[in-house]
Order: sequence, then structure tokens, then C-alpha cells
Amino acid sequence: MRRYLIAGNWKMNTDRSTGVALATAIAEQATDLKDVDLLVCPPSVYLAPVAQALAGKAVALGAQNMYFEDNGAFTGELSAAMLNDVGAEYVILGHSERRHVLGETDQEVNKKTLKALEAGIAPIVCVGEKLEEREAGETAAVNRRQFEAAFEGVTPEQVPSVVIAYEPVWAIGTGKVATPEQAEEVHADLRQLLTDRYNAEIAGQVRILYGGSMKPGNAAELLSQPNVDGGLIGGAALKAEDFIGIAKAAG
Ligand code: G3P
Repeated sequence: MRRYLIAGNWKMNTDRSTGVALATAIAEQATDLKDVDLLVCPPSVYLAPVAQALAGKAVALGAQNMYFEDNGAFTGELSAAMLNDVGAEYVILGHSERRHVLGETDQEVNKKTLKALEAGIAPIVCVGEKLEEREAGETAAVNRRQFEAAFEGVTPEQVPSVVIAYEPVWAIGTGKVATPEQAEEVHADLRQLLTDRYNAEIAGQVRILYGGSMKPGNAAELLSQPNVDGGLIGGAALKAEDFIGIAKAAG
């Protein structure tokens, strides 16, 4: 009952022309994919031109971050209303690069999640442990802490709009992909946390994506796991062929 979601996080890559060209190529190659939702998340300054390139196409647009206040003196930030205004339907929140490079806290991720939901934008809430946390046997605890904090105040009605992305930090951009079993173990834990907090029916509607060195060659095995409902792709989202190759593995 859950449709796969294959999402491209372009991070701080592309420029106006390469971003538009990438989105256009993805949309062109996506036409025969039926059971997969596709999403691209360009840098915020290119949301508008990419939105234009994707108008009427079966590829959704998302942002990589937003702020939790409505408007005002928050230099450099973007509001949920601004994302709505440019046609972003999703927003990535709490990506590990924002948590660990830019110091974003669990509480900020929670406030942003609530604000995105209030504005009708689907948050993609990222969780994931660092290598030292995995090696210390803290994987489940870290993911639980990030999950519980992010979902504080999210109502049962809102939950199905939320997407979770499990991105083990040690697998991001390293070429070291989690094994399908490692991914499934955490995804199943996250689904159980949703069941405990809400109920099994609600938990069954939430898409849980895997992110971390997903590529066309390893996607099918990861996506065949019962609780892996798609991917949040970094490097391989920057080439239309690779991104579509992953999407084909889903469908
Ligand atoms: O958000 C996507 C991500 O962090 C994974 O990046 O380059 O390992 O696919 P990559």
C-alpha cells in the first residue's frame, strides 16, 4: 500500500543550467515509471527554475531545508510559505550534514517538522547514527532519540504525510552502503516506534527511505526489504541515468 519514493538530494551542487537540464532529463526518462514517486531537491536558489522545468511533469519538487518561523528578521532563512510559493511539496529536514556540520538540534528539527506540516509541505525527516555510535552499539538508541524528538507534537492525522529517511552517517558519500539487513533492521525499528507512538495502521502508511551510497547496482536489494520504501539519493541523483536506474529498481 506504500508507493516507493525515490528522492534526489542535490545538496550544494548544480547551477541554474545544469540543474534545469538534470530535472528535464529526469522528467523525460521518468515517463514509463508507474509505481514510483520521483522527487528532486535542488539548492534553494534553483527551486523556481527547476519548478518551471518540471511543470506538468511527474516529478515533484522539494527543498533541502527551511526555517520554523513564519517570517521576519531571520537573515538567510526560508519560510514554509516561501517553499509553498515556489511549488515545493516536500522539504528535507534534519539531514545529517545539517545536524553535524551546521549544528542543527533535535528540537529545531521538531519545530521545522511541525511548521512544514502546518503549511501542507511533506517533511522528510532524516535520522541516522554516526560510525562511532554504531560501533558503540548505540544505533537503535540514536535513531530512537532523533525519531522521538522529531515527532513530538505530530498528530495522528499528520503522520502519513511525513516521510522518514534513515541515513547512516557512515554510509553518506563514502561508497560504504549499509547491507540490506542493516537497513531493514533500523527501518523495522522505526516502523515499530511509529506503531508504539501511534498505531500499526498509521505506521503502515509512512514511507521510510534509505539514504547512503545508494546506486543503480545496489538499489534493488535494498528496496526489496519489506520496510525500505524508497531512497534519498545524493551523489547518484546528479546523473539522470543513475537516478532513473535506481527508480527502475524500485518499480
Ligand atoms: O541525502 C542523501 C544522502 O545524504 C546520501 O548521499 O551521496 O551517499 O547518496 P550519497
